[in-house]
Amino acid sequence: MRAHVLKKYGKSNAVHAFDERPETPLAPGEVRVDVEAAALNPVDLKTREGEPKMLLPFAPPFVLGSDLVGTVVATGSNVTTLRVGDAVYAYAGMDRMGAFAEHVVLPADRVARRPGALSVEEAACLPLAGLCALAALDAGKVDKGSRVLVHGGVGGVGGIAVQLASQRGAEVFATVGTSDLERARSLGASHAIDYRTQRFEDAARDLDFVFDTVGGDTLKRSWSVVKHGGVVASLHVPPRADALIAAGLRAPWILRLLLPLVTRGAHAAAAKAGARLVPILSVPSAAGLERITRAAESSGLRVTVDEVFPFEALGAAFDHLQSGKAKGRVLLKR
Ligand SMILES: NC(=O)c1ccc[n+]([C@@H]2O[C@H](COP(=O)([O-])OP(=O)(O)OC[C@H]3O[C@@H](n4cnc5c(N)ncnc54)[C@H](OP(=O)(O)O)[C@@H]3O)[C@@H](O)[C@H]2O)c1
Repeated sequence: MRAHVLKKYGKSNAVHAFDERPETPLAPGEVRVDVEAAALNPVDLKTREGEPKMLLPFAPPFVLGSDLVGTVVATGSNVTTLRVGDAVYAYAGMDRMGAFAEHVVLPADRVARRPGALSVEEAACLPLAGLCALAALDAGKVDKGSRVLVHGGVGGVGGIAVQLASQRGAEVFATVGTSDLERARSLGASHAIDYRTQRFEDAARDLDFVFDTVGGDTLKRSWSVVKHGGVVASLHVPPRADALIAAGLRAPWILRLLLPLVTRGAHAAAAKAGARLVPILSVPSAAGLERITRAAESSGLRVTVDEVFPFEALGAAFDHLQSGKAKGRVLLKR
């Protein structure tokens, strides 16, 4: 099979190649998926550059990619949830990756039936973003009547969070760019706030839950809008070492030393606001994906596909993602 193999870390397309690779043997509990489409996430660019290398349980060469749609072509022993021929999708996980390949072998408990209501391309955009959005809303116990603010409300993760929160009956505020106000409303935000021209603090207050997909100053300013006893979930605050290890990642001693220091300010701000800070880490889960499939099939979920590239054209797809011009997910399709 052919796969996009990262040879060494770096910023250019020269560090990866579409190479012939031997098939990975199937272990008990695993399935082999013939990949039809794979979505690029911001983390794939960061991985190519080596940003999370301290956390990874492997070093180059390895196959890039996290989000995929495909068909199960083989099952290992002890697999009871999936069969050969099933149309599936998966978030491979940072501890495995391998989605930018013709075949990927994954634990069956990371692979779920894909939503029939969505196209192959749309379904490929959902796993990582959907699982993060679900984890965040669950952490905030978002329910009917909750007052919720989603920063980056039409982004890959934020767009799903807005829709799932609105489906739960929450009152949703969303910060988005000027040209995305209408889109945010159409996803279910009752209050769309233009982050380029408006301060969200002037439009949203006493919130039960804030989902920060942006980080930096946006997170710092969010403490003034969450109510006492509320929750701020962030994609930009590193989780504790034990959460990294539980997700199959590494937490070397230097990281264990640094983590409390780099997160101290955010946790102190949370305590001062009387709120709880929950760092969100993307964790693979078939059970989570099944909930997303049900949401997509019962209430509908919309994702924005920006551009679909031929499967071999990872370099061009990365260039497009890096240009910052993509409005939605960038995909590879066979
Ligand atoms: N911790 C984890 O496990 C995890 C998991 C997934 C993602 N992430 C990270 O979370 C971030 C978001 O991921 P994504 O996939 O949703 O990215 P994305 O699809 O690129 O979306 C980002 C969105 O944020 C908007 N935005 C930028 N600055 C903003 C601001 N100041 N206020 C409000 N919105 C703003 C962008 O709007 P414009 O188009 O107007 O710029 C865009 O719609 C990335 O950095 C990613 O690496 C972390």
